[in-house]
Amino acid sequence: MPEFRLNKTVLTISEGDIVQAGTEAIVNAANSALADGAGVTGAIFKAAGPELARFTTKLGGCPTGQARLTPSFQLPAPTRFIIHAVGPVYGDYDTREAVQLLSNAYRSSLELAALNGIKSVAFPAISTGIYGFPLNLATGVALRTVLTFLKDAPHAIEEVRFVLRGEQPLSMYRLELAQLLAQLPAEITGDDTIYFYDKDEPYYEFTNFAPYGFFANNTFWQTSEHYFQAQKFPKMALYEDVRQSSTPSAARHLARQNFRRQRPDWNQVRLDVMREALRLKFNDNPPLVRLLLSTGERPLVEASEDDAFWGYGPDRQGQNNLGKLLMELRDYYRATSGEPPKQLEG
Ligand code: APR
Repeated sequence: MPEFRLNKTVLTISEGDIVQAGTEAIVNAANSALADGAGVTGAIFKAAGPELARFTTKLGGCPTGQARLTPSFQLPAPTRFIIHAVGPVYGDYDTREAVQLLSNAYRSSLELAALNGIKSVAFPAISTGIYGFPLNLATGVALRTVLTFLKDAPHAIEEVRFVLRGEQPLSMYRLELAQLLAQLPAEITGDDTIYFYDKDEPYYEFTNFAPYGFFANNTFWQTSEHYFQAQKFPKMALYEDVRQSSTPSAARHLARQNFRRQRPDWNQVRLDVMREALRLKFNDNPPLVRLLLSTGERPLVEASEDDAFWGYGPDRQGQNNLGKLLMELRDYYRATSGEPPKQLEG
């Protein structure tokens, strides 16, 4: 399970039944009468036993966007509280109002938890079931609200857990949370990873598309992408065609179009070819070496969603081989005080 951190709070995302979240409080996706129902409510009322309904009928309901606290009755330890949060029925409001009310429901829940010294809270995806809130919109609202709360308020909450039903919400939450946290400073997320990919972002220089040319055996290569792609076709006219492609993406495109003709052992040699491409590129461009060394021990990750081999892939669990080779090169330069590495064997 991927784990994220914000200040002192750990954020987790998991699939399962909210009733079994194992947190001190669980959040109910409640209705404004605080009555028994289907979905999350049904599961919670069933597990908590009949005393819960007897208790909630005395509370006189709860307006949309707010939350109420009750004991957990027969729910197993360590769960001691239920926070009943009333999200909006999506179709009853215009989108702006619905978003505000959903955000209020999350914030009210966290305020109640903080006020009562609760250390861990589990949320379902409020309003995304019977209440019809589109999941992608609700995901952003839920995560932004929780992050804003945790970022701004000193409090006792040590863990916030999102318990979801199904694979789709799970990967949506993971992606969105990683993206939101990446925008926050490392001091509060504990993550000082350098994600490089976009042309307009810092460290684009580490991508193979960045325009840093170099010579290999007296032949000029416009980018490491050109070099890498051409090595798929040794001793063929295509090698030169790829080398002379006008842009790195044209070089890649040409190579991919001809993938049936690439050397049969490509998968075995491609890591070594990339290692050599990077060596050549950095060797001929001293400012790049200085940039690489300036990153210290920070993890380097190629933020490519469509490449789980070289980059981190669609679920951010990919191999990140480009990042790994760059870190290897960085180690080398550090050990040799910036001396370029000798040609590697193989
Ligand atoms: N654990 C975790 N998530 C669950 C569970 C469970 N046991 N059961 C359902 N879910 C998921 C659903 O897949 C959905 O994505 O929780 C999300 C919220 O679904 P609902 O429970 O339908 O909540 P909501 O859309 O807020 O509708 C609230 O439903 O039962 C009633 O009393 C409730 O009237 C209120 C309405």
